[in-house]
Formats: sequence, C-alpha cells, structure tokens
Amino acid sequence: MIILPFLALYILAQARGCVSRVSNRTIDDFNGDEVTGVVPVYIPANRWNVKSNCTACHVQPQQDQAIDNTWHDTTVPAGTTYSVTLEFTGTAIYFFGIVPNSLPKTQTHVNLAFSLDGASAGTYVHTPDSTSNTILYSVPLFAKDRLSNEPHTLVAQAQSSSLLIFDFALYTCVDCENCVFHRDLTVELGLMMG
Ligand SMILES: *[C@@H]1O[C@H](CO)[C@@H](O)[C@H](O)[C@H]1NC(C)=O
Ligand SMILES: *[C@@H]1O[C@H](CO)[C@@H](O)[C@H](O)[C@H]1NC(C)=O
Repeated sequence: MIILPFLALYILAQARGCVSRVSNRTIDDFNGDEVTGVVPVYIPANRWNVKSNCTACHVQPQQDQAIDNTWHDTTVPAGTTYSVTLEFTGTAIYFFGIVPNSLPKTQTHVNLAFSLDGASAGTYVHTPDSTSNTILYSVPLFAKDRLSNEPHTLVAQAQSSSLLIFDFALYTCVDCENCVFHRDLTVELGLMMG
C-alpha cells in the first residue's frame, strides 16, 4: 500500500493542473506583465510616447485595435538607436507591433534589431507601401521558441531613421504558478483516501 501516497500526490498534482502546464502570458506595453506586473523599460524614456494620449503624433492608430488600448511609439533620428527591454521567464517570446504604411510628413520606415540574452537574435524591416495609408495591427515583429525555461531578456532596438510602435508581447510560461484547481477531482480523491 506504500504506492498509494505517491499515486495520490500525482493525481493531486494533475488535479491542480500544475504538471507541464503551458500557457501564454501577455506583456502589455503600458500595463506590463499580466501576472507579475513587470513593465517594459524604454530607453531613452523621454523619447517614447504613450500614443493613445498623444494628440500631436502623426500616426494615430485606432485605440480599439491595440491590446489594452495602448501602445508605445518612438521615432529615431539619424545616427542613433532607441530600445525597449522585456524580462520574462519562459520558453518562447512573441513581440507584436503596429506598422503603418505611408502618411504625410511622417517617418514610417521600420528597421529593428533584436537581441536575446545579449546575443543578436534577428531583425525586422518594413518599407512602407507608398500607395497605401493602411495601418497594420498585431504584426509579429519577432518570435523565438524552444528557449530554456529560465529568465530571459529581449531587447528590441529601433535603428537610425526608423519608427517602432510596440503594442504587446506574449511569452510561453511552463509550470506556471497560476494553476487551475479542479474541485471535482479533489473531492473524488478525498473519497478514495477517506
Ligand atoms: C503562444 O502564442 C503564439 C503566438 O500567437 C502561438 O504561436 C503559440 O502557439 C502560443 N502558445 C500557447 C502555449 O498557447
Ligand atoms: C491618458 O490620459 C488619461 C487622462 O489624463 C489618463 O487617465 C490615462 O492613464 C492616460 N493613458 C495612458 C495610456 O497614458
């Protein structure tokens, strides 16, 4: 009968939904990580606008198309770079932005370089369609999976003479703390053990 406690523990772990539980969590540009509350770091801070409140800004996306109705926007002058840094613990990261096409008197060329844990990880370039003023939403600008399940740092660097409008990121969390508790199974278990 020695096996029973182990079996019970295993069933309990299953019932709590904690065994190899995999889910995506959102990091909003403004509200941050939906679970930990950690917010992105914008550098330099005074060169980024929270655009849903920016009446003077040229690119005016529709608020209801953006996650949490917010986004951060920066226009980088020639010869420098600006960045946003995200911290997460998980096995994948997906970074999404808002990408405009052509707008009068507006820099809409997007040219980004991404680094993950200090190493170059990829680029994203969008040349605006000169015949279109369409603004694209939830555009995947960077994705990387099969990471080790530990803390990671993603830096999105907007390059010289380019625009970045960051909306949100998703990361894949394994064995997350927010376990789902299945009451029915626990009751059954209690009956078995009782
Ligand atoms: C997380 O989101 C990405 C991007 O939308 C998707 O490809 C992936 O399947 C999702 N993973 C989970 C565990 O839901
Ligand atoms: C926008 O402005 C309103 C009113 O000042 C404020 O309550 C809100 O938090 C601001 N939103 C953002 C995303 O900065």
